[in-house]
Amino acid sequence: MSPDHVRKLDRLDPLAGKRDLFVLPEGLIYLDGNSLGALPVAAQQRAAEIVAQQWGQDLVKSWNTHAWIDLPVKVGEKIAPMLGAAVGQVICCDSISVNLFKLLAAALQMQTDRHVILSQEDNFPADLYIAEGLGRISASGTLELKLVEDNGIEEAMDESVAVLMLTHVNYKSGKIHDMRRLTQLAHDKGILVVWDLAHSAGAVPLALDDCHVDFAVGCGYKYLNGGPGSPAFIYAAKRHQDRIRQPLSGWMGHAAPFAFDTQYLAAQGMRQFLCGTPPILSMGVLDAALDVFEGLDMQVLRDKSRQLGELFLEQAADTGCLAEFELVSPTDSTQRGSQLALGHPRAFAICQALIDRGVIADFRAPDVLRLGFAPLYLRYRDIARSVEILADVMAGKIYQEEKYSKRQKVT
Ligand SMILES: Cc1ncc(COP(=O)(O)O)c(C=O)c1O
Repeated sequence: MSPDHVRKLDRLDPLAGKRDLFVLPEGLIYLDGNSLGALPVAAQQRAAEIVAQQWGQDLVKSWNTHAWIDLPVKVGEKIAPMLGAAVGQVICCDSISVNLFKLLAAALQMQTDRHVILSQEDNFPADLYIAEGLGRISASGTLELKLVEDNGIEEAMDESVAVLMLTHVNYKSGKIHDMRRLTQLAHDKGILVVWDLAHSAGAVPLALDDCHVDFAVGCGYKYLNGGPGSPAFIYAAKRHQDRIRQPLSGWMGHAAPFAFDTQYLAAQGMRQFLCGTPPILSMGVLDAALDVFEGLDMQVLRDKSRQLGELFLEQAADTGCLAEFELVSPTDSTQRGSQLALGHPRAFAICQALIDRGVIADFRAPDVLRLGFAPLYLRYRDIARSVEILADVMAGKIYQEEKYSKRQKVT
């Protein structure tokens, strides 16, 4: 594709104006919004305001005057339209891991005659760890975590399965599951489904209500741009809310936390998923960050994200720089989320060489270079430039320099 055509794509981009809503270092190409989203200007301002005014000046009064106490509900409702969820089904709290624990435990109590959590071998490991942990403390000791390959999920859905736990967009390959179909198939077998939307929320249009999803979790720090350690969210379909009993019965999930009753009585609706005091600084920042999505058509976002990925592959094919890579993601852009996964035995070193040249990508063990395309702040010319830089790294075998093999704690 010619530079003229790339310029034209930028000129016609309906999301071009969104980039100005972000703080981005000059000259840097950020292909890691699927790990940690960039900083929205509004989030930066809110962080300063919460610290200086709300905490600094208004102190404890802010629980009421700045409605800190309602922030989990407010932020949940702001996320809900992006998930295709009607009011009263999403709340912001804790991390994905903690929320999965709550949901899996709740779902298992709704399915006492079944003993299997079914998931996928290459699901995000933390999700599997949580299910394993539940197995270790299950009263009967019979809870089983059954892991199958991607193409074995349907076959493994039988009457022993209580819960199907899947990640909608695979964290490594980016492959998307057919949420509607798998949810329906599971329900046909009496199985409840918990979807992990970490790599979907804010990147892929979702229709949780329409797909009759039971439960879902997702995080605030990737495509929602809520910042490092930003709190996560829970979706629970209205039809289940009266039957749920989640095990982390903390005071914020109590029907009347400030009655200081010695007996636990769960709140109605989504508040029952709260546990301890919400992290107001990060939740307030996420609240502000979500404003960049206001009035946005998720399909427009999705179209651009697909085009960014396609442009990358086209440009890379022109330069031949992917000759040594294996495309781990689906080739069809409708089948993958907002990312590309490229397999190479030296993927770690290649990633480091890219970062050294101002292209931030990431590495997933053992051998995947992961490139995220966050459509709110990436331009088509950034993609074209990142391919040029990758081509240089590959042609000059720059990644072979010893310094690029040095691993730090976080890869
Ligand atoms: C798919 C997926 N699930 C779960 C997690 C873990 O989330 P948390 O650290 O919020 O528990 C991640 C983290 O990146 C993830 O990518």
